[in-house]
Amino acid sequence: MRFSFIPTTLVMSAAWLSLASAAVAEPPSPAAAQSQEDKSNQSEAGELMFNNACRTCHAVKVGDHRLGPSLAAIVGRKAGEQNGYTYSPSLKNSGITWDEKTLDAFIANPDAVAPGNNMKPYTGMTSADDRAQIVAYLRGGSAPSSK
Ligand code: HEC
Repeated sequence: MRFSFIPTTLVMSAAWLSLASAAVAEPPSPAAAQSQEDKSNQSEAGELMFNNACRTCHAVKVGDHRLGPSLAAIVGRKAGEQNGYTYSPSLKNSGITWDEKTLDAFIANPDAVAPGNNMKPYTGMTSADDRAQIVAYLRGGSAPSSK
């Protein structure tokens, strides 16, 4: 989040690397670990939106399941397949593959996409702009290479 005003991934990674080594002296706090995982984020607005609407229940770090499953590399994955998380049968058997379209629809109204799912008490998100920002964040912040 700290570096996300810098426009390119390349510059961001370089800045991150130099600052990361400077930060090694400090014992890692959960907050530091959190900002570390956000380094590849290319959408500051999307990240803010994600933090507000999703982070209570979801992390974007691989294997970091909270109330909801990790959303690492979620774009392109099949629903209900993150290791180590127990999904509702609804989501597990939905046959959905998460892409921009299915994610957008799910965030707008989870029950319309996977009736009986367990993503509660989340109630949906009406703003298409906000949803697009979040999906962009999930795509940019969870590239397959981060697996
Ligand atoms: C109140 C907690 C909560 C909030 C807030 C929440 N989720 Fe979830 N989410 C869950 C739970 C629980 C599941 C698992 C649902 C199931 O098994 O039916 C889930 C599942 C998902 C899945 C399916 C993951 C997979 O591996 O198939 C996606 C995608 C998702 N959430 C995205 C989001 C996004 C994006 C937001 C913010 C806009 C969000 N969620 C907000 C609790 C939450």
